[in-house]
Amino acid sequence: MSFHIMGTGSYVPDLIVSNDDLSKIVDTNDEWITSRTGIRHRHISVDETASQMAAKAALAALENSGLTAEDLDLILCATSSGDAICPNMACQVQRDIGATCPAVDLNGACSAFLFLLETAAAYISTGRYRRILCVGTEQMSRILDWTDRSTCILFGDGAAGVVVEPGEDYLGTEIMVRGGDEVLKVPTHVGNSPFSKLEPTHPYVCMNGSETYKFATRTVPHQIQLLLDKTGVMQEQVDWVVCHQANRRIIEAAARRLKGIPAEKFLMNIEEYGNTSAASIPLLLDECNRKGLFKRGDLIVLAAFGGGLSCVASLIRW
Ligand code: COA
Repeated sequence: MSFHIMGTGSYVPDLIVSNDDLSKIVDTNDEWITSRTGIRHRHISVDETASQMAAKAALAALENSGLTAEDLDLILCATSSGDAICPNMACQVQRDIGATCPAVDLNGACSAFLFLLETAAAYISTGRYRRILCVGTEQMSRILDWTDRSTCILFGDGAAGVVVEPGEDYLGTEIMVRGGDEVLKVPTHVGNSPFSKLEPTHPYVCMNGSETYKFATRTVPHQIQLLLDKTGVMQEQVDWVVCHQANRRIIEAAARRLKGIPAEKFLMNIEEYGNTSAASIPLLLDECNRKGLFKRGDLIVLAAFGGGLSCVASLIRW
């Protein structure tokens, strides 16, 4: 017993910031950003927090599933840019949507949504919970250093999620973690303990872009192939690939290595949203679901990578 996706939902803030807008804030230009990343716009929060966006995405997912908040047995949330460390994101979403079920977070950076699905599948397989809401939400704009042109142009804000119930459509997952913080990290404040001898931190996204790029282009196709081997699915049988939307060139590089999956099967919306971290995969899933792109029975590979470092590939049947 695994799960079936009942419905999807998403929310992005209204403000759309273009590459030209960013060129007025840092020394950059549309040509550089578009050619290196494929990003043209991102949605940026003005007065909404990650939990407020998450609640809106959750309500949209419930509506799409034909459920109300009272029908939920568990809420799982993921964020790297939440409003607070305590209470966790899932508790705030529980309150804001009017649910009464248990609620807890997982922290997995940009791969987090796939860790949520893996956790949901495990809970459902034990019979512990039946209907689980999984939401990734990010207000990346609050953890970016807006004077650092190498990172602030890459990310966007938004939230998205799915509701799952018992079913047979989660077919497998392959997880790899290479622990370390040299390549990608978001330090927290060091605090003001009079006893601490720790150096003050820079509590923003710190990233070695080229190392992240190398990690992703190497591990994403590798994890996808491991997943396909494990589940006995040929590349030619894959209907769609929903990759973490961090960089168009990373997705295109993965497509070149997986020659049996046509490039047009690798779906993208990075142009409009940039990298929304934990919200990236469900945002694209929701967009495609609402467009009616996915047909019942389609085999969809989900692939994510991010801080940890981690790389996760999962196979679902729509
Ligand atoms: N605008 C203009 N120039 C910029 C810039 C910007 N926004 N950001 C960096 N540069 C400059 C750098 O200062 C550097 O200049 P220098 O060579 O004079 O020192 C140069 O551009 C670096 O260019 P290049 O090496 O060609 O960049 P790149 O092709 O490696 O692209 C990234 C940089 C960040 C787009 C790319 O490495 C990347 O996408 N990495 C992965 C990031 C990612 O996926 N993160 C999320 C993980 S979940």
